Amino acid sequence: MIRIGMVGSGFAAKLHLDSYRRIGVQDTAVTAICSKDADLDQVAEQYGIPRTYGDLEQLLGDPDIDVVDIITPPALHEDMIVRAMRAGKDVICEKPLTGFFAPAVDEAGVPVPRSEMLAKAEASLKAIGAAMRETGKRLYYAENYVYAPSVQKCAQFIRLKKSRILLIKGEESHSGSHAVHAPYWKLNGGGALIRQGCHPLSAALYLKAVEGEVRGESIRPVSVTAVTGCLSDMLKGEEHRYIHAHPVDVEDFADVLITFSDGSIAQILASDNTVGGTRNNMEVFTNEGQYQCNIAPNDALMVYHENDEHLDEIYMTEKLGQKAGWQPIFLEETVMRGYLGELQDFLYCLKTGAEPASGFPLAYDAIRVIYAAYRSAQEGCAVRLED
Ligand SMILES: NC(=O)c1ccc[n+]([C@@H]2O[C@H](COP(=O)([O-])OP(=O)(O)OC[C@H]3O[C@@H](n4cnc5c(N)ncnc54)[C@H](O)[C@@H]3O)[C@@H](O)[C@H]2O)c1
Repeated sequence: MIRIGMVGSGFAAKLHLDSYRRIGVQDTAVTAICSKDADLDQVAEQYGIPRTYGDLEQLLGDPDIDVVDIITPPALHEDMIVRAMRAGKDVICEKPLTGFFAPAVDEAGVPVPRSEMLAKAEASLKAIGAAMRETGKRLYYAENYVYAPSVQKCAQFIRLKKSRILLIKGEESHSGSHAVHAPYWKLNGGGALIRQGCHPLSAALYLKAVEGEVRGESIRPVSVTAVTGCLSDMLKGEEHRYIHAHPVDVEDFADVLITFSDGSIAQILASDNTVGGTRNNMEVFTNEGQYQCNIAPNDALMVYHENDEHLDEIYMTEKLGQKAGWQPIFLEETVMRGYLGELQDFLYCLKTGAEPASGFPLAYDAIRVIYAAYRSAQEGCAVRLED
């Protein structure tokens, strides 16, 4: 039996809890949960979690926990990972693994150099790597896109056909985050790119790594070019009513081009300015095929209603503005977005010692590419990544 202690009981914590519930109680149990939320006890009762704690130190002192699942704002991740490992626990951590957490503009109003952010993010990655080596504990990077069934199926095709991936286009966009930490660089480490773009970016890095593995080549991200912006700054008064992005010092749009050592390219788009529900998709173009991963929206169930009467309680898909008319219904979201597969893989790897599809090496590359993109957007030129 693997005993899990969760840190965080907010939005994403419930995605994990729903997945643990579907995995079943024979092999796994969430034995404790800790957060700062007033409704912590209610969440614990709803999911049948026996113990609650008000802070991480108490949870780490609980001997009946094998693995700590960290689902807190990104600025807290590094410290929590290192403390959990030193307390003898393996760690699952939500995306983004880490980053640069301070205001993006200094007290004199001057933008912080993104080269400095990249250096600090790399130092944070090194600190996490050092804690892993020092304690011998394992890290599982909760990047659900890697485990979306459509992305995993793509990986299977790439493995079998040993094709060359020439181009990947990935996007995660919607009408703005609900999270209180989202508008602030000091809490989130950036805006739409690190919050949303990190998903298709990580899936692209993963697929290129799969290709490298089957071809016996090391294929690395070597150069990053990006444009970031604040599109919602254009909106005045009523024009802003359907867009929920209110960035303070972060971007709400990013377009990133990554060049790999084999000459292939990935393009990643992230925006907080897209109405009509979430756009989560990946397109993969190889020398002999094409794969379209329509995570959301997808047309597995299309429904039409003349009006939205009596539809208040039904969930259709995330960030939908209205429920009438034709709508794509997001079925089995826990499965289709990859949360279930992700936690199943981590539990299997915890038991067997196998390497997860999404672990520290993937998180390491994703964070370096993201901060290289921020640097490129600020400096107006390509940024090279050295191994
Ligand atoms: N994979 C996904 O699809 C996905 C979706 C949303 C969020 N996330 C990630 O999940 C993480 C949390 O985001 P969220 O949207 O759930 O945020 P949230 O604000 O809904 O929840 C954050 C939780 O952290 C807890 N917390 C904050 N400080 C704490 C502390 N010092 N000690 C203990 N608990 C503390 C809060 O009490 C709260 O329960 C972020 O890293 C985010 O990027 C991932």
